[in-house]
Amino acid sequence: MQKLLDLISKEAMAAFEANGYDGTYGKVTLSNRPDLCEFQCNGALAAAKTYKCAPFQIAGKVAESLKGNPMFASAESVNPGFLNLVLSPDFLAGYLQEMAADEERLGCGKCAAPKTIMIDYGGPNVAKPLHVGHLRSAIIGESVKRLGKFMGHSVIGDVHLGDWGLQMGLIITELKARKPELVYFDEGYQEEYPKEPPFTISELEEIYPSASARSKEDEAYKDEAMQATYELQHGRKGYQALLSHILDVSVNDLKRNYEDLNVSFELWKGESDAQPYIPDMVRKMKQEGFAYLSDGALVVDVKEDTDTKEIPPCMILKSDGASLYNTTDLATIVWRMKDYRPDEIIYVVDKRQELYFTQVFRCARKTGLVGPETELTFLGFGTMNGKDGKPFKTREGGVMRLEYLVSGINDEMYKKITDNHTVEEEEARKTAKTVALSAIKYGDLSNQASKDYIFDIDRFTSFEGNTGPYILYTVVRIKSILKKYQAMRELPSGAEILPACTGSEKALMLEISKFNGMVENAYEEAAPHKVCSYIYDLANAFNHFYHETKIMAEPDEMKQAGYIKLLWLTKRALEICIDILGFEAPERM
Ligand code: ARG
Repeated sequence: MQKLLDLISKEAMAAFEANGYDGTYGKVTLSNRPDLCEFQCNGALAAAKTYKCAPFQIAGKVAESLKGNPMFASAESVNPGFLNLVLSPDFLAGYLQEMAADEERLGCGKCAAPKTIMIDYGGPNVAKPLHVGHLRSAIIGESVKRLGKFMGHSVIGDVHLGDWGLQMGLIITELKARKPELVYFDEGYQEEYPKEPPFTISELEEIYPSASARSKEDEAYKDEAMQATYELQHGRKGYQALLSHILDVSVNDLKRNYEDLNVSFELWKGESDAQPYIPDMVRKMKQEGFAYLSDGALVVDVKEDTDTKEIPPCMILKSDGASLYNTTDLATIVWRMKDYRPDEIIYVVDKRQELYFTQVFRCARKTGLVGPETELTFLGFGTMNGKDGKPFKTREGGVMRLEYLVSGINDEMYKKITDNHTVEEEEARKTAKTVALSAIKYGDLSNQASKDYIFDIDRFTSFEGNTGPYILYTVVRIKSILKKYQAMRELPSGAEILPACTGSEKALMLEISKFNGMVENAYEEAAPHKVCSYIYDLANAFNHFYHETKIMAEPDEMKQAGYIKLLWLTKRALEICIDILGFEAPERM
């Protein structure tokens, strides 16, 4: 379906042309004076310069041409030359009726040329519990992925596990200190390694921090961990068997955590999957003259003439020949291109890694890992701060585990829900979880991703204001009216959305009509916050309408049925949007 603004612009353009002016002056926008009109066109002001006559004259002629047009209730020229437009309620109702006829997508077409897009998000580190620092990547990445899928693209989310590096050596070393008798440490061991992992997730989560702490004090211990890392990376069998145990146990736990956040990944690849591609990649970079030795390290220059700040070379190998975070990201690009040929790869990562990704992207382009047809996009997000404006911490000042953060908010929500009325324990728990997730996700996504924001639990969990629970509350309210109506009667045949009779009804209809344009724009700008502001405005418009309209007591059967259809459409728009944001509404709350 065409966007409402485009349809209106088309009419205004035709009116400019009919009066001998260039049609491009007829572009229409939403009014910035909603008290005066719904849409406006300022083209006459610009046209006046070209045609050397008063803008008011041009606007006047155009307005005159639009007068009989069934699309508008009024078209007026006002000083100094604005064109103020008010939509005809009939036309608007017809537009919404057409939206409603497309139950699945409400008239939002899929893109004409679907792309293959890979999204690198989540980025958890194996054997370390998820902490709040990983929350934003998961929430934003999931939503950007869903936006892309809704627009009809083939979108592949890859969790990109941090499963390569010193942390693995540390775990192996600590395990060896604790259980030296395990077969994994016996170099002469020839048989198959056991299927059962030699630790549980809670042991694993305890092993890593203690190993990490000890390595900071004990030099020999750290050397041992580095040696273990080296041997693991160079194919020592027992260590590789341990690595798969660590991965299995850890990934299971991560999956459970992400499931609680309604986040899922198409691919569970990690840094370790990139390792086989490194030697070839490095050889080529050297052969083709891109990589050279600088102070013993292998680097590729990535600075460009137009740089205003210094972009240091991209390091490929350290002087001891070891690979780095960069090397892994570059080699990851190699397999992504080989296996999926994506048109775009989007990285949803903390914005403090922006310079790093500039280096990686430039290096990948320069060395031909990606061609010009593949876009590399860095979607950097800001920090999640506490109320004190500093990075969010536990009350004791430590890093907050994601699990604890989520369960804390679940409990808070449970209290709120059971405070209001009596609900069965099981249902209350389930509802609390659903609403809590909306609080967390909406609280995050309603901010522009690149900005820092304050994680304010009290505000986020409130049922009023610009919050997830408020949106859900609105959906639940509509659901309950629809249920009541259904219990009373069936929708009469021929029921349609009718032209608005009141200001609040028309305002609601105008909000709804922005749906397709909003989704398209949110996708193009990878901006879930635009979806949030749409549903906030929509929920406000609905609640305003609801307070001013007697829906259930309406005596005119067809008029009431029209309201019901309008409610259904509002609910559907809200539901599609919250699904894009990655949460859902309960039946009751
Ligand atoms: N594991 C990293 C971290 O915890 C994030 C990974 C981001 N993605 C990437 N391709 N480098 O900081």
